[in-house]
Amino acid sequence: MRKNSRLEKPVNATITAVGMYTPDKILDNKYFESILDTSDEWITSRTGIKERRILENGGTSVMATKAMEDLIKTYNVNPEEIDAIIVATITPDMFFPSTSCLVQDNIGAKNAWAFDMAAACSGFLFALQTGASLIESGAYKKVAVIGADKMSSIVDYTDRNTCLLFGDGAAAVLLEGTEDLEYGLIDTKLYSDGAGRKSLYMKAGGSATPPTHETIDQRLHYVYQDGKAVFKVAVKGMADVAVEVMERNGLTSEDVAYLVPHQANLRIIDATAKRMGLTDDKVCKNIQKYGNTTAATIPLCIVEYFKEGKIKKGDNLILAAFGGGFTWGGAYIKWSLD
Ligand code: UT7
Repeated sequence: MRKNSRLEKPVNATITAVGMYTPDKILDNKYFESILDTSDEWITSRTGIKERRILENGGTSVMATKAMEDLIKTYNVNPEEIDAIIVATITPDMFFPSTSCLVQDNIGAKNAWAFDMAAACSGFLFALQTGASLIESGAYKKVAVIGADKMSSIVDYTDRNTCLLFGDGAAAVLLEGTEDLEYGLIDTKLYSDGAGRKSLYMKAGGSATPPTHETIDQRLHYVYQDGKAVFKVAVKGMADVAVEVMERNGLTSEDVAYLVPHQANLRIIDATAKRMGLTDDKVCKNIQKYGNTTAATIPLCIVEYFKEGKIKKGDNLILAAFGGGFTWGGAYIKWSLD
């Protein structure tokens, strides 16, 4: 038995507290009509996006901290009892220290160890699996998992192919163990395929191509996306994995209360729901308000739908994501929070 395992009975990791933050500043489609050759009609029909939120001051840690403060206040959580903090993000405040370390300090979680996880749009699912493993091992009792991205810091507002797709936001969950093994994170199926790296990436700024005057002049430190190529694999990848998670857990469309999909494109979301046999009222969507907030989309959807009283204790949720890497995956949660 590992020295720091305190496990007497097996536990599932389950969400016991939630919080979220979206910045106040809104960029609507009219704004993009005023700066680019595009239209509200094109953006709405091709993506489903109407508005996105923009963080004006500070980095991703500002939003991740506010999401945690919402969680702490709403659920009366003592930050000193948090054992670990994982921030899923591809827009850290800086290369190092990690954004999670900044959050750890900001919220006074002085007994927590903290690290970031970079898996782009699948980041929250990857972090959820990692956080759950820490709980299930018995080594840790309370793990905070946060999805947060300030995409406005890495999109090129002169590129109509990408800039209007993305926005900023953060949401957080607290994981704890439950001995009632019917509840919590029941299953995940996660994938990576680095062969997709040239379809969605940032060309410069990292260790392979450190920033220079030339890379800045050539605008290589922004998101590059071959939209059509990503669309093709995303629409298949997200639907396949969502159905795979349903099938391997013996769930029919009747059993599923909500699909919580990554919010990159309404057409991808609708195709996934159709493959799962779900009606529209069983699909969590906030893409119209926030656009694609990368690692934040799935937790933002969960937290908003829960706060609005739509997600209830006992609901079966299927989470599904696809994004840069490529990374993709699905998860099955039986919701336990009242
Ligand atoms: O979150 C990470 C994973 N990412 C995704 O899942 C995103 C996947 N891709 C997509 O969501 C879609 O491919 C986009 C929304 C990015 C683009 O939609 P599309 O239907 O694939 O459009 P397209 O790139 O094939 O472009 C169609 C037309 C082109 O014009 P022509 O060649 O047909 O004359 C584009 O030049 O639309 C044009 N276009 C625009 N027109 C107005 C491209 N961007 C715009 C724009 N406004 N912003």
